Amino acid sequence: MAKQLTDQVTFRHGATINSRLVQSPMLSRSGKDDGYVTQDTIDYYAARSQSAGMVIVEYTYVSHSGGPAQSFTSNRLQLGLYKDDQKPGFAKLAQVLKKDGNKAILQLAHTGREAVYRAIQGEKVYAPSAINFDFLDYDVTELTDEQIREIIRDFGAATKRAIDCGFDGIEIHGANHYLLQQFFSTESNQRTDEWGGQSLDTRMNFPMAVAAEVFRVVNTYAPKDFIVGYRISPEEIHGDRVGYDYRDANQLIHKLATTFDFDYIHLSLPAYNAKPAGVDQTFAALARPELPAETKLMIVGNVMSEADAEDALQETDLVALGRATLIDPQFGLKISEGRGDEIIREISPEQVKKSKLTPGLLNIFSTPKMEPHLPGRESIYALHETDASGKSASWS
Ligand SMILES: Cc1cc2nc3c(=O)[nH]c(=O)nc-3n(C[C@H](O)[C@H](O)[C@H](O)COP(=O)(O)O)c2cc1C
Repeated sequence: MAKQLTDQVTFRHGATINSRLVQSPMLSRSGKDDGYVTQDTIDYYAARSQSAGMVIVEYTYVSHSGGPAQSFTSNRLQLGLYKDDQKPGFAKLAQVLKKDGNKAILQLAHTGREAVYRAIQGEKVYAPSAINFDFLDYDVTELTDEQIREIIRDFGAATKRAIDCGFDGIEIHGANHYLLQQFFSTESNQRTDEWGGQSLDTRMNFPMAVAAEVFRVVNTYAPKDFIVGYRISPEEIHGDRVGYDYRDANQLIHKLATTFDFDYIHLSLPAYNAKPAGVDQTFAALARPELPAETKLMIVGNVMSEADAEDALQETDLVALGRATLIDPQFGLKISEGRGDEIIREISPEQVKKSKLTPGLLNIFSTPKMEPHLPGRESIYALHETDASGKSASWS
């Protein structure tokens, strides 16, 4: 029978979700200094308890050195779960997300060289290699072997905290140029030790070690049906700068998915039907054969309507929604009730209130600078705020 968006999906470890739709992880720009959850964070996620069958909470840094990645003002930061006193806020988050039967997943990350806010505060920013990239206006410091091993343990400790907080699963953030991808990229990893960039195999060592530690903790402490996913960008190509291509990525996907029991692999794509340059097949179709039948494939990118979601489903098991759920947090509910045509597809001042967009998200999406943007953004330009110094919000 043909796949439907409203199908129940059961993952290999037993968890069932009520739809093939997933809310993609998105920084809500609502954390407090040191990564604490705020009331804005809770209100934003509480409004999204019916956005999809499963919500992946935004990238949360696992080590003190792992973030914050981005900020506009100091009270609109990335979330962190690298110490125990951060747990109560995350427990509340899991609770509000699960109140209507959705699953709540937490995305775990170390931002590596992208820890912009550390640089602003004069703290060291770490990366696999101390490369002076022209797109960074600060220096980075090469991680020592000991620090790398500590970060791997931090992924395990954050997984344990996520379990304690009542999350139904975690997603390892191996995409979007953050630390796991930095280790996998030939451009960013010029080390010569066992974590080094000498070969495709050694560049896989860090992501593989993180996955091993996460599964060790899950197998020791989590309920049997705990969900574990991995998010990957299927290529890192910017003009003539090539970190890796889709063939390399598929080898990593294969190794991860055949060594560990991942419930799903999540391709981070700009458009769900994107293809590598000069190739006829989509990234999704190229990745699918690398996965065992028990591991679900999830794709994302520019799914803004029910028709887009149906089209994307041809390629995958699970369809993730990003900006569409910022505009209409009832995207999934409306589809499950046969009201897909009622999905609101443009932002407006009224929808900002209804969707409980955080002040941080409102600020970045109410400027003409922000890409990818929200359709209808002109209607919210008047809501844009500048900070005390008159500085306007920007994406990074
Ligand atoms: C405001 C915003 C924040 C994001 N934060 C994250 C994040 O925390 N983790 C991540 O893996 N991707 C993040 N992304 C990427 C989205 O998960 C998604 O892949 C991307 O927006 C494409 O999907 P869309 O076209 O449906 O919006 C973010 C995107 C946006 C717009």
